[in-house]
Amino acid sequence: MSPRIKIELDDLTANNLGILRRINSVVLPTTYGDAWYKESLAVGQLVKLAYFNDIPVGAIRCASETRNGQASIYIMTLAVLAPYRRYGVGKQLIQHIEEEAKRTYVKEVYAHVWVENGEALSWYQKVGFEQAELVEGYYRKMNPPGNAFVVRKRIE
Ligand SMILES: CC(C)(COP(=O)(O)OP(=O)(O)OC[C@H]1O[C@@H](n2cnc3c(N)ncnc32)[C@H](O)[C@@H]1OP(=O)(O)O)[C@@H](O)C(=O)NCCC(=O)NCCS
Repeated sequence: MSPRIKIELDDLTANNLGILRRINSVVLPTTYGDAWYKESLAVGQLVKLAYFNDIPVGAIRCASETRNGQASIYIMTLAVLAPYRRYGVGKQLIQHIEEEAKRTYVKEVYAHVWVENGEALSWYQKVGFEQAELVEGYYRKMNPPGNAFVVRKRIE
């Protein structure tokens, strides 16, 4: 990475919540409501904003889940503004979540990715996620409903 590029992560607070909202609305097709953003303030280290030379350019928001006694971290949103992609911002965000999984003894991080989003599927593969099951009709609001692949990474 060029020494002139500085990538830093920051906590989400009531004062910068608008940044998460802005980045998600510019990058992602799904809209999240006020309740979701309010809830984002209560997930601790499972949400982060990313700054590229002090400019807010990316964000990740996850949720912790327990199913059949197994804890996992679910990536709800991950977004980097298009002009700032391929500089390592997404990787830094996902690495933070993986470290958080390790710190809290969580063994799996996973996400759903729209089957047509080849860019995201290949990105997740690049950062060590495996493509798992197909979930038909996962994106119910799409017309016709969109299918998703689960992508997951085991955390050792
Ligand atoms: C997916 C996304 C978050 C990646 O962010 P990014 O900041 O560009 O990713 P990085 O620069 O950290 O990429 C990490 C590595 O993957 C590589 N890479 C980047 N995009 C890639 C792609 N589409 N396919 C394969 N590899 C890719 C990078 O070159 C880098 O490789 P390196 O470690 O060898 O240098 C970003 O493209 C994005 O916001 N996309 C739109 C929203 C989206 O699809 N979100 C995910 C689904 S919820």
